[in-house]
Amino acid sequence: MPRQLAPGRLVLATHNKGKLREVAALLAGHGLSLVSAGELGLPEPAETETSFIGNARIKALAAARAANLPALADDSGFSVASLEGAPGVYTADWAQLADGTRDYAQAMAKVAALAEQHPGRLAWFSCALVLAWPDGHTECFLGEAPGQWVWPPRGLTGFGYDPMFQPEGHAQTYGEMDPAAKHAISHRARAFAQFAAACLPKSRLPA
Ligand code: IMP
Repeated sequence: MPRQLAPGRLVLATHNKGKLREVAALLAGHGLSLVSAGELGLPEPAETETSFIGNARIKALAAARAANLPALADDSGFSVASLEGAPGVYTADWAQLADGTRDYAQAMAKVAALAEQHPGRLAWFSCALVLAWPDGHTECFLGEAPGQWVWPPRGLTGFGYDPMFQPEGHAQTYGEMDPAAKHAISHRARAFAQFAAACLPKSRLPA
């Protein structure tokens, strides 16, 4: 039986504003008072694992222990089948510039230039969500959204690699979709649905 999250304060262990916005929207109405790791001034631990779950676990445990509160961390990324799942857990690193800023236009161009050398368009986004408590207990969830990579990129909404991903069964890219439409089907929404079903009391689930 998964451990339940009691109403009260929950740390969102992310410093990424795009992800923070999306997770906050998904958690709205669940009786939780959200505070981000950034607002608490918590340090960002090194993401040294080779899986999404492993890295989310590092972030959630570090935040839960430092804040002495339950903490929810997300680790996510974009994978291209013909590139053996790259950039995968290194999705953010591929956008990193020497000065520490991130350039997603050049990161998407790099992925497309490599992917164009191989047949196949299959791609997917993954999202691991890990809920950790200060005593070291964790609950882990993985959501995936299959689709295809497209080039040139399309759309201006969303963030990161959204404009080069067209989810299965949809004509628009994540970057062209209304945020609510993306939230309804995204890898993050799928991970969140598992988390909510397992850890939030049923009375706080949407009807
Ligand atoms: P993390 O902070 O290590 O989890 O890095 C996740 C990387 O994947 C970042 O570069 C994000 O921009 C990218 N990413 C994750 N989720 C999405 C999404 O929903 N749309 C676009 N890019 C995403």
